[in-house]
Amino acid sequence: MKTAQQMAMDGDEPPSKYNINNYTTYTKFGSLETSPPFAPVPIINIGCLLSSAKQDDQQTELARLRSALTTWGCFQAVNQGLPVSYLDNVRQVIKQFFELPLEEKRKYFRETGSVEGYGNDMTYSENQVQDWCDRLFLRILPEDQRKMRFWPENPSNLRETIDEYTKKMKSLSVVIFEAMAKSLEVEENCFSKQFTKERDVLQGRFILYPPCATPDQVFGLKAHSDRSGITLLLQDPGVEGLQVLNDGKWYMVPVIHDAIFVNLGDQMQIMSNGIFKSPVHRVVINREKARISVAMFTEPEADKEICPVDGLVDEKRPKVYKVVKDYAAFNHECFQKGVVALDAVKL
Ligand code: OGA
Ligand code: NI
Repeated sequence: MKTAQQMAMDGDEPPSKYNINNYTTYTKFGSLETSPPFAPVPIINIGCLLSSAKQDDQQTELARLRSALTTWGCFQAVNQGLPVSYLDNVRQVIKQFFELPLEEKRKYFRETGSVEGYGNDMTYSENQVQDWCDRLFLRILPEDQRKMRFWPENPSNLRETIDEYTKKMKSLSVVIFEAMAKSLEVEENCFSKQFTKERDVLQGRFILYPPCATPDQVFGLKAHSDRSGITLLLQDPGVEGLQVLNDGKWYMVPVIHDAIFVNLGDQMQIMSNGIFKSPVHRVVINREKARISVAMFTEPEADKEICPVDGLVDEKRPKVYKVVKDYAAFNHECFQKGVVALDAVKL
């Protein structure tokens, strides 16, 4: 099977299973528009969320964060301590991997039945439209579960770069989890402890969206919400492509060179008892330019029970969601059946 990148290089027309017009199940969230209006996604100054920040600044930023997460479920994180040159280097290393000849990348090919490794979209059923993208998927944390055979050795600094970037994303996610709790006036570690107490779970998805001459007929990534706690996304500075759904309308997420785009996943919507949103989003393809992105997903351990936290449940606001366990697998199953997982765990 050819990767999307090879097809783009050979000038192939996308095969019919990539053509969204052949499927009716994907219009649930509206039809594909390649250039909707830009989303006024809030920009959050992470420096102001730190306990070292001035009290007034902190309060203001926490209120902005809360508002961002109740309306959009996402924001652009700036002033997070990562210089643009550093972020550019991470993007560059990933880009270099995708630019390697196929023979080299083939060494890391995903094996049948496994999600880890390099390759194209995994097919679950005949009726599933394929996404026009190639990806390298790695379980990065816990460290003792790394399958190093999927970790490219070329470019030579890739492993080290991913390892270092992961540590930075892990610290950033703790700051965000704690700030979210503060903004809701609940125990500061009530979210973070679900993710960091015993064993950190973090997965990385490094994605290439090759150009396509018919961008209105293929999805880069079809509409979905993330199963994560939070997702930290490093976007390609040269090409837009990510869209979010808000109030039934699609918006294009602007690219801010020095920002990390943060969106909540379903498990955060559950823990916040529905106060915070896990936004539905998708990726569209550019006609001429390839786009890369680096997504890191924080997750609780599979056997951990996740449910709305105590401080956010009262008579006025009864529990909206059941206790869930191994939500990642459940979400995956729902996705295969075309069911919205969050709806299925509602009380
Ligand atoms: C994802 C995702 C967005 C992007 O991997 O879940 O939404 O821009 N990625 O690649
Ligand atoms: Ni996503």
